[in-house]
Amino acid sequence: MASNSSNFQVIGILMLSCFILFVGVSSAAKTPLKVGFYKHSCPPAEAIVQKYVNKFVSRNPGLAAGLIRLHFHDCFVRGCDGSVLLDGPNSEKESIPNRRSLRGFEVIDAAKAELESRCPGIVSCADIVAFAARDSACKVGKIDYDVPSGRRDGRVSLINEPLQNLPPPFFNATALRDNFARKGLSLDEMVTLSGAHSIGISHCSSFSSRIYPTQDPTLDPDYAAFLKKICPPPAVNATVDPTANLDSITPNRLDNNYYMGLKANRGLLTSDQVLLSSPLTSKMVVYNAKYGNVWAKKFAAAMVHMGTIEVLTGKQGEIRKNCRVVN
Ligand code: HEM
Ligand SMILES: *[C@@H]1O[C@H](CO)[C@@H](O)[C@H](O)[C@H]1NC(C)=O
Ligand SMILES: *[C@@H]1O[C@H](CO)[C@@H](O)[C@H](O)[C@H]1NC(C)=O
Repeated sequence: MASNSSNFQVIGILMLSCFILFVGVSSAAKTPLKVGFYKHSCPPAEAIVQKYVNKFVSRNPGLAAGLIRLHFHDCFVRGCDGSVLLDGPNSEKESIPNRRSLRGFEVIDAAKAELESRCPGIVSCADIVAFAARDSACKVGKIDYDVPSGRRDGRVSLINEPLQNLPPPFFNATALRDNFARKGLSLDEMVTLSGAHSIGISHCSSFSSRIYPTQDPTLDPDYAAFLKKICPPPAVNATVDPTANLDSITPNRLDNNYYMGLKANRGLLTSDQVLLSSPLTSKMVVYNAKYGNVWAKKFAAAMVHMGTIEVLTGKQGEIRKNCRVVN
């Protein structure tokens, strides 16, 4: 892929704030999306999103994790169409994987509000999510990449679809591989993108089966003891669900320490630790732990690829005025 020189002005601005730029991320499948899609229709689009991400994440670093996860949960359910943002009693937001744990919606809303006042009806919510994920990776990991854009927003969001499409935390490596393969992502991309668990948190309910009633033998005993102090034994009508950092080494830094944690048997979720224990993926874990710069480049490329899943373009869908409701 030849770098499109006409995009360099936009990129230059981003580069100043992030220092590192990976050019030539090219593993993305054929896609009608285009880097710099808003260059003429709304020149400040990407800078506006970045401004709000920087502002909110400076105040609350956890929002970077929230925004990266938001893009994943958007793309794996009906493609990257902003369906995860729609409000409603039966929308994706209310599903088990999403309710009480997705965060960052206020960042998308703030960016959208300014975009609607500057360029009404131009910038899709799905693209805002993709930009915000990139800007988050940039801010907390110095991982920067061009985001092809031109996604359009969907009009459907169904509560049962996240559970049918998103991998649960108890999946083994083959099940994870098959889940990602259904979205067109490779085994290596699955392992690479799991590195997003280098930031953010998980509720106890997502991993307490590893410590109660019996302790998962693949869990480091000291780490298990630490987790038991945080998490109460599961109760039928539990009202509290505390959280633990997904990466116990550098919880607010997007880096390859996640893979070091796996090597120390400190992967928090079953779906994390199986990447080391399965012969299918263990070599990839060891490699990513060793070569952080290569992992960072693969992560950028895999994020771009994930961002192309089943996108709506052209005259499909719509450009929502408010990311929480269809027009
Ligand atoms: C490989 C399969 C994956 C599984 C089974 C999985 C599962 C989970 C679970 C259970 C949580 C914690 C939710 C909670 O209890 O609060 C979580 C958090 C998170 N996931 Fe994943 N995930 C996977 C892949 C990904 C991918 C591909 C990304 C993004 C590229 C991602 C980004 C995140 C982030 C950033 C968090 C922290 C969110 C926050 O702090 O708000 N995950 N994931
Ligand atoms: C992985 O999980 C699948 C589905 O739950 C199961 O059929 C399979 O036997 C498991 N594989 C291993 C290696 O445990
Ligand atoms: C849990 O809550 C339900 C509904 O409020 C109630 O009927 C049930 O008795 C409770 N179970 C326990 C074990 O407290």
